Amino acid sequence: MNNVINEVTEILSLLYKHNWDERNGGNLSYILTEEEVKTVCDPFKTIRSFEYDFDMSYLIGKYFIVTGTGKYFKNCLKDPENNLGILKVSSAHKVDLLWGYADGGKMTSEFPTHLMCHTERLKLDPGHRLVIHCHPTNIIAMTHVCPLDSRFITEKLWKMQTESIVVFPEGVAILPWMVCGGNEIGVATAQKMAEGYRSVIWAHHGLSCTGKTLDEVYGLIETIEKAAEIYLKVFGKEIIQSITDKQLKDLATAFNIDYRKGIID
Ligand code: 13P
Ligand code: ZN
Repeated sequence: MNNVINEVTEILSLLYKHNWDERNGGNLSYILTEEEVKTVCDPFKTIRSFEYDFDMSYLIGKYFIVTGTGKYFKNCLKDPENNLGILKVSSAHKVDLLWGYADGGKMTSEFPTHLMCHTERLKLDPGHRLVIHCHPTNIIAMTHVCPLDSRFITEKLWKMQTESIVVFPEGVAILPWMVCGGNEIGVATAQKMAEGYRSVIWAHHGLSCTGKTLDEVYGLIETIEKAAEIYLKVFGKEIIQSITDKQLKDLATAFNIDYRKGIID
């Protein structure tokens, strides 16, 4: 069966194999078309409903595939129906389950963050579809040794490798440590998304990335995490040379990149 379940579970397996989603670490939500939903289930038949106290009105009528809370990415490929759910936002405060969570489970505890981020990213980019939250080792490690400052982190990640500014010209935002799983961290994360970031680091926790396609968001995570890995490899050593502000600007000119201002200028 070649449908969206295959595409999503393949990406979840790859994320797990990178060691970025230990145990139940990480979660994903992906906007589906009605046609995509029809390849899996009846889009008009509700199994169960869930109520939330944050405002989902911008997303009414949209379908999502969402990882379940407490579920392991490593198990999604072999058992999608227990580990994933397909949902429809049916009103400002209600979501209907159309398929999945077959063992009585429910969507990720980070559902408020996901839906708040979808709302803000859709306002900026009508083609936006995907939020992936994961726990990449080097990004988390970096938040123990760097100031929790978006400008600082972006500059370091851009200067670690040539690809960085090309792949995330808008930079990467960082939030201080917060309790996860509720509305508060969702509001703070979505606010960064509204400022034009597609990627937000949660200190000592992980990374959330957004975009149009599974490949784009997976690639964003890979590139950010690789830059963090390089940073940690050189951290504490004597740096003889690195990518300069001028070289980054030359790159931006050569690739016609509209990078976030106020970081290298
Ligand atoms: P869930 O199992 O509820 O998705 O939580 C995992 C996680 O990464 C929390 O931030
Ligand atoms: Zn997490």
